[in-house]
Amino acid sequence: MSGLRVAIRGRSFGDKSVLGEIGFDLEPGERLALLGPSGIGKSTLLGIIAGTDTGFEGTVTRPDGRIAVVFQTPRLLPWRTLAENIAVVPGAGDLDRARSLLAEVGLGEACDMHPERVSLGMQRRAALVRALAVDPALLLLDEPLVSLDPQSVGAMRDLLTFAMDRTGATVVMATHDRREALALTDRIVELGGTPARLVSDRKSPLGRDARRDPRQVDDVYREWFEPDSFEPGGGAAA
Ligand SMILES: Nc1ncnc2c1ncn2[C@@H]1O[C@H](COP(=O)(O)OP(=O)(O)OP(=O)(O)O)[C@@H](O)[C@H]1O
Ligand SMILES: [Mg+2]
Repeated sequence: MSGLRVAIRGRSFGDKSVLGEIGFDLEPGERLALLGPSGIGKSTLLGIIAGTDTGFEGTVTRPDGRIAVVFQTPRLLPWRTLAENIAVVPGAGDLDRARSLLAEVGLGEACDMHPERVSLGMQRRAALVRALAVDPALLLLDEPLVSLDPQSVGAMRDLLTFAMDRTGATVVMATHDRREALALTDRIVELGGTPARLVSDRKSPLGRDARRDPRQVDDVYREWFEPDSFEPGGGAAA
């Protein structure tokens, strides 16, 4: 079984060079976070990995099997119910299977509603169910926790872990949130510069149980991202 091999030499839009040289290999089932500020090129890189963007230089080798993408916005079909949104995807199964998958993530009551009738958090959950319903070998997640309220973030984080465990997929998750990256993935790369390249590529010391403990996430967060925030003789900087 193969994982994912990314060897990009560049991606430009017109004369604007967005991505420079970016390379990494993932083992099958490995979970990678792509960290970086807004506009750095995370969604662009995910589009290249997904195969929807072919206007780049370089090569991407994907694992055998299906690819599922959960976009930054849920992109559900507004004229279909949540269950229908899942059942229309080739390979996702019938309406009954869609309803039972939705029930597993707490959307049993909402499964026959249309997207506009449910909250953004519920739409996000449905979009994630739609992705895991096809049992993907490669799961691409674009900012899955952004603009959710704190309570929904916790539920969504649990659901993402469930989806990743259930599918065993190789995962690439774009996020600008470092704690979220530590809470969900095995390895974290940071994009920086113009054009963007990898400024770091680190394996998380947190195993899959440890990363569910917010205190352990905080410890690694401070060690990795705030090494300069301790002032000699004083407390930690705010
Ligand atoms: N189709 C396109 N045509 C022209 N420029 C584009 C296109 N797609 C992306 N860009 C540019 O590429 C850069 C990276 O955009 P991208 O959406 O990948 O960033 P991002 O890291 O996902 O940002 P965010 O965190 O806000 O989602 C931006 O400057 C954007 O304007
Ligand atoms: Mg983006």
